[in-house]
Amino acid sequence: MSQSRDRLEIRGLHAAVDGQEILKGVDLTIGRGEIHALMGPNGSGKSTLGYCIMGHPSYEVTAGTIELVGADGSRLDILAMEPDERARAGVFLAFQRPMAIPGVRLADFLRHAVTNVRNPQRKEGQELMPMKEFRSELKAKMGELSIDADFARRYVNEGFSGGEMKRAEILQLAMLRPRFAILDETDSGLDADAVRLASQSIARIGGAGGGSESGAMGILIITHHEQLLEHNVPHHTHVMLGGRIVESGGPELAAELHKRGYERIRSAYPDAAAAEKAMEGSAVGA
Ligand SMILES: Nc1ncnc2c1ncn2[C@@H]1O[C@H](COP(=O)(O)OP(=O)(O)OP(=O)(O)O)[C@@H](O)[C@H]1O
Ligand SMILES: [Mg+2]
Repeated sequence: MSQSRDRLEIRGLHAAVDGQEILKGVDLTIGRGEIHALMGPNGSGKSTLGYCIMGHPSYEVTAGTIELVGADGSRLDILAMEPDERARAGVFLAFQRPMAIPGVRLADFLRHAVTNVRNPQRKEGQELMPMKEFRSELKAKMGELSIDADFARRYVNEGFSGGEMKRAEILQLAMLRPRFAILDETDSGLDADAVRLASQSIARIGGAGGGSESGAMGILIITHHEQLLEHNVPHHTHVMLGGRIVESGGPELAAELHKRGYERIRSAYPDAAAAEKAMEGSAVGA
């Protein structure tokens, strides 16, 4: 089904940190308008995949491809691009451990990011999106997402609670309207209401109505929370183990894993389970 629309295509991806291989051949295709859930035990390589897609310098891709494929068959090699070029091409990653940027207010950060993403040819130092236009758009989006108006005046992620980090991330998503979003769940515990609100907001923004001008987003949700998928029922669920996606299915797979955990997966894929053990034994820096 994703063959006829824009898609983010990952083929045979291998990646290493400090010379130690973490991803061992990942294949994944995300079409616009599709919601994919990525699950898997702690340390299986989910965040590493997100960092590779965004081009984090600590993660070295040693084999494989990541491409943006147009509906017309055009191919854009993401791996050849700098992280900011990837963002301008419409790829967005919400980090599991978002960085604080003391001294930079969320509104200013967003104005820069939005200007760059909407005007990919812009050079640093050139004009930003007009303040008035930006303010009214920000205000409208914050209203829609029930975010307090003062929130945008705070420094990016500095002292944010788990729920506030999540809200900042969703606000970015709403303002940037990327073509593809990788949402790596934040570590900080969210209470049940916050998870429900996040789930609803992601569904609202990611859908055809609130997505980028030309249609819905393709979304990869990395999560251990069943509730986050409540309003974003995944079209596809993938299980990562030992640096590979070992099984894919529909929403029922996510439900099974939430209920029963990963024992069935480990016994069904002994090679990947062995790789998981080896990774634990030699965790980088351990
Ligand atoms: N920057 C890094 N430095 C050192 N080791 C790293 C780094 N990034 C990842 N690793 C190692 O790679 C492995 C996979 O980590 P990753 O963060 O991708 O797992 P994950 O599937 O996202 O786990 P979780 O569910 O806990 O978020 C782990 O053994 C981790 O210690
Ligand atoms: Mg992670």
